Amino acid sequence: VTVPSQPLSRRALLGLTGASLAAAGVAGCASSSDRQPVSDAPRAGATPAPVDATGAHQAGVVSPRAAQPNLLTLVYDLDGPPAPVLAALGRTVLALTSGRDRHLAGMSPGDLTLTIGVGPRLVAAVDRTLPGARQLPSFPRERLAAGDTGGDVMVQVCASDPLLLPGASAAIASAGGRALRERWRQRAFRGPSLAVDRTRSAPRNLLGFVDGIVGPRSAADLDADIWVPASSRAAGATIAVLRRMEIDVERFLAQTVAKQEAAIGRRRSSAAPLSGGTISSDPDLDARTPEGAYLIPTNAHVRRAHPPSTGVPTMLRRSYSFEDAAAGIFFISFQNRLSTFVATLHRMSTSDALLEFTVTTRSATFLILPGFAGTRPLGSTVFRA
Ligand code: HEM
Repeated sequence: VTVPSQPLSRRALLGLTGASLAAAGVAGCASSSDRQPVSDAPRAGATPAPVDATGAHQAGVVSPRAAQPNLLTLVYDLDGPPAPVLAALGRTVLALTSGRDRHLAGMSPGDLTLTIGVGPRLVAAVDRTLPGARQLPSFPRERLAAGDTGGDVMVQVCASDPLLLPGASAAIASAGGRALRERWRQRAFRGPSLAVDRTRSAPRNLLGFVDGIVGPRSAADLDADIWVPASSRAAGATIAVLRRMEIDVERFLAQTVAKQEAAIGRRRSSAAPLSGGTISSDPDLDARTPEGAYLIPTNAHVRRAHPPSTGVPTMLRRSYSFEDAAAGIFFISFQNRLSTFVATLHRMSTSDALLEFTVTTRSATFLILPGFAGTRPLGSTVFRA
């Protein structure tokens, strides 16, 4: 899911200058006009635009607008107090994304983003009423080994260049030192995004369906449903839910295209809802055939997951596909209330033609910490030192 475009900020423009310099192998802070790039480093192909790691929110939730093709999620248990470790991780994020970390020496960080969250155990220790303090309940169709759930600290690393992921992961492990013990990790990928409208796009998932269409459309939607409001000490944060959903891909794709589309509620080719229109049309859940049957079947995924008119808020879905020992969707959603996700999955669990092909083998929720900057350490509003 992507969000409406914003004009390029001065910070983003500065970032672009920094990236062009980094791409040319120039260190330091000389401006591009007073210094010619002098480097014997090989010139790479087009370097993707950098993504600002600082601001009111962390990168990797709504920026970049189209999520990068490669993801590595790292989850750790924490020994000791969170504040110093989070501050060190924040400094490492700034060093990695500005090309100053030795683990990426000689490489351009391009559109690398790192997004850091903390698990409910740490949040509840501060205040049980804070967003992100609640654990996920259990749901049907789960097969969860103890080591594949939860965790204290989550680092989501995304980049166009897959070769940046191991270096970033090594830098995080080095910054965490003995305080962080790895619990689980997930590697995943996305294909190219298709335009939904002038400002939003979404990729296909490994079933071939466009995934990530419906979600927040404006800055006002993001403030209402995704970002934790200014009144909270976690202002600017959001709650992530991560679910590794293994799918019986062969059995799903063995069905006719019409049956697959009935399970999802949208067309494979155009991604239009079965109720008609185009990829950007909302599903019309009341539309019927002349004989009175629903055009979007009662157990279609988009009907079961649709925020009903009773006002369940929207979530921002930014999922990836994976193929390792099994294949499926690494589902990622962001919302400012855990109940948005919980209510949606409960409604799907009673009847959803897609869910029947899945089993969830990893599951966790994290408070994605508010944005930070050099002078405002990561996590400092939630975990005062
Ligand atoms: C195997 C796992 C899943 C797959 C392959 C999948 C795929 C899709 C696809 C293709 C769509 C239609 C296009 C779109 O609006 O993005 C969709 C919609 C949606 N999905 Fe999923 N999904 C999965 C799991 C989940 C889960 C676990 C949730 C949340 C609990 C969820 C929530 C939603 C929502 C809210 C929509 C938009 C519904 C609407 O209002 O039209 N999905 N999903």
